[in-house]
Amino acid sequence: MPLFDVYPLYNVTPVSGKGIHVYDDKGDEYLDLYGGHAVISIGHAHPNYVKAVTNQVETLGFYSNAIQNPLQKQLADKLEGLSGCKDYELFLCNSGAEANENALKLASFKTEKKRVVAFSKGFHGRTSAAVAATDNKNIIAPINAQQAVTILPLNDIEGVKTELEKGDVCAVIVEFIQGIGGLDQGTTAFFEEVDKLCKANNTMFIADEIQCGYARSGKFFAFQHYNVTPDIISLAKGMGNGFPIGGILIHPSIESKYGMLGTTFGGNHLACAAGLAVLNTIEEENLLANVNIMSEYFFSIARTIPQIKNIKGRGLMLGLEFDFEVGDLRKDLIYNYKIFTGGAANKKLLRILPPLNIEKQHIGQFFKALKKALVDVESKTLEV
Ligand SMILES: Cc1ncc(COP(=O)(O)O)c(C=O)c1O
Repeated sequence: MPLFDVYPLYNVTPVSGKGIHVYDDKGDEYLDLYGGHAVISIGHAHPNYVKAVTNQVETLGFYSNAIQNPLQKQLADKLEGLSGCKDYELFLCNSGAEANENALKLASFKTEKKRVVAFSKGFHGRTSAAVAATDNKNIIAPINAQQAVTILPLNDIEGVKTELEKGDVCAVIVEFIQGIGGLDQGTTAFFEEVDKLCKANNTMFIADEIQCGYARSGKFFAFQHYNVTPDIISLAKGMGNGFPIGGILIHPSIESKYGMLGTTFGGNHLACAAGLAVLNTIEEENLLANVNIMSEYFFSIARTIPQIKNIKGRGLMLGLEFDFEVGDLRKDLIYNYKIFTGGAANKKLLRILPPLNIEKQHIGQFFKALKKALVDVESKTLEV
């Protein structure tokens, strides 16, 4: 049976991984600066992770949410401790889209309103309300388009004020650092004013931390770079280091009711074991500090390369902007220098999302290769 063909694929077949590297079926080693789309947080096959998941699958991999599962509470407590989000409650699910879907649903339950405000170039997932709040017409099917969503330019505070004062907006959803859109960030004044406007208008402020959260930005959550208190924080990607797990942190002003949210697989034993191993490793290996040190090192080298026109992002959620489209550069990096990088909706941006335990030697290797690849790409352009 053929696979439903929805992904353009690079011709590389990874069969194993260790730390910052993956290895293909020919035995070639690749430097993974993409982390499988910001998913690999503590590195491939981290011993803590392998041990925790192996032990758990040998013990009890799954049972339903109708029984006690102390691992969920352990995960919630650890997350509270590391994130500093003291007042929140945790609901677990399986993916980023599902986290945002639940976040939007909860905002609508709480406020009894149904319109959502989201922002240009934002991405929130592919399920019904999440995709409707995503600024990409190509992935919104007619069935999704029935959702009431208003997309505003990032930093358009007057627009947010006007829309919220109409009284029908249940949620404002934002990525504090945009991922697939191309690493744009709102200003401090914008984010802090949106927070105030949400509170003044009975609108839930949803921080989509699916990509920028979990230590990636240099703080546990990217919204913590600002003085804001989101009502709901959505998580996924780095949370399970590859095991599918997502969740939302919910402010206690939103009261739970039986049946309000639910899931078969969310918060299962295996997912919790993976999630706990990630949090324990972030703590034990002081990965937040590493993110900040490596980020500074990355910026210091990137600034010396004249072809790089703009360095975007924070922490280890980074983008290098050029004055040409980077498709060929990415191909050159992957096929000739064995380095995975990412692209974005902004075709001139190379995205860098490495595991959080990357070291200086890997960053050095990348920039050495990038300089050579830039020469390759420039000479190819001259030939044309
Ligand atoms: C910011 C953001 N929100 C939501 C999602 C959707 O997550 P998932 O693909 O796990 O459904 C993504 C995925 O790329 C994302 O980057």
